[in-house]
Amino acid sequence: MIELSGLSGKTVVITGAGGMLGRAFSEALSDVPNVRVEAKTRQDMDVTDRDRVLALADLDPDIIIHCAATVDAEGCETNPENCRRIQVDGTVNVADLASSTGAQVFYPQSFLIFDGSETPIVETTPPAPMSTYGQCKLNAETALRDRVPDALVVRMAGFFGGDEKDKNFVGKFVPHMFKLIGEGVSEFAVGDRVWQPTYTLDLARNGLVLLAQGKGGIYNMSCHGQASFYELAAACVSELGLDGRMSIIPTTEAAVAGSEKAARPAVGVMENRRMISEGLDRQRPWREALAEYLNRPYFQTMSADRLPENS
Ligand SMILES: NC(=O)c1ccc[n+]([C@@H]2O[C@H](COP(=O)([O-])OP(=O)(O)OC[C@H]3O[C@@H](n4cnc5c(N)ncnc54)[C@H](OP(=O)(O)O)[C@@H]3O)[C@@H](O)[C@H]2O)c1
Repeated sequence: MIELSGLSGKTVVITGAGGMLGRAFSEALSDVPNVRVEAKTRQDMDVTDRDRVLALADLDPDIIIHCAATVDAEGCETNPENCRRIQVDGTVNVADLASSTGAQVFYPQSFLIFDGSETPIVETTPPAPMSTYGQCKLNAETALRDRVPDALVVRMAGFFGGDEKDKNFVGKFVPHMFKLIGEGVSEFAVGDRVWQPTYTLDLARNGLVLLAQGKGGIYNMSCHGQASFYELAAACVSELGLDGRMSIIPTTEAAVAGSEKAARPAVGVMENRRMISEGLDRQRPWREALAEYLNRPYFQTMSADRLPENS
């Protein structure tokens, strides 16, 4: 907690506070003494509503953690204007709020601004978005850095976290697996795309460390290690004690993701080079973080409810 003492007395605004990362920041900040947290969900404040965003100057924020975004990469392909409006216009509004108040901005960037042709991705790797989502996120980062040159831009790997708000692989796969087991299915095929499953709470805690140190510029932040989706699925099965009831069958990504509209890298692996060099890397191996996540009441209750005979 000493390393977070730089946050004491600060007012922190979170946009998109109802989402996976926004909730993790609220949870992580609840452990930090003497911090005023203003967590704004989409219902509280739409970031495309410029007047509402600029009116937050009344709160005199020291830090704005800007988690509001549309992360539906498929939806961004079919409605690119909506994607641009939320990612880019919304971020410009937040940047202008920061400029008018002197607040620091934390911007969670996606590794999907890269095409995966360079491994590992480091902070100096040139972005090469493959999708509308990636391109708009990159445009948002550029617009932010033009307006707030010292903004803290943290490029993150794919998430798990957020319990019922988890719309990524783990959040969808685990309930689906329970459903399949309940239907008597004992095999499930998962693809071989290799990313870095990273826990939102680890990201939030490490993000607060950077903010408490007054850091700015670009950092990479991902779990330690990498995993194919097949390995991630098998780890979920194993961590939930279901090895004898569900077998995960490896297959090619093309076989399971054939209808995707948004292109994604087959391999997306980052190195936290700057955090390591500055002694600020607090990330864990993905498997250790996954075990902690699946031990939360949300998943444990799901396990007990759906498989009562499996006590
Ligand atoms: N998910 C990943 O694996 C991942 C990886 C790297 C970086 N990131 C980045 O991390 C950030 C947070 O992502 P996340 O995974 O936490 O997404 P999330 O769970 O969808 O959270 C985003 C939140 O923003 C809200 N939102 C959407 N449009 C808004 C608007 N116009 N005004 C205000 N709020 C709005 C959403 O509300 P509704 O749900 O009501 O729409 C949602 O609560 C994003 O910038 C994303 O690009 C995500």
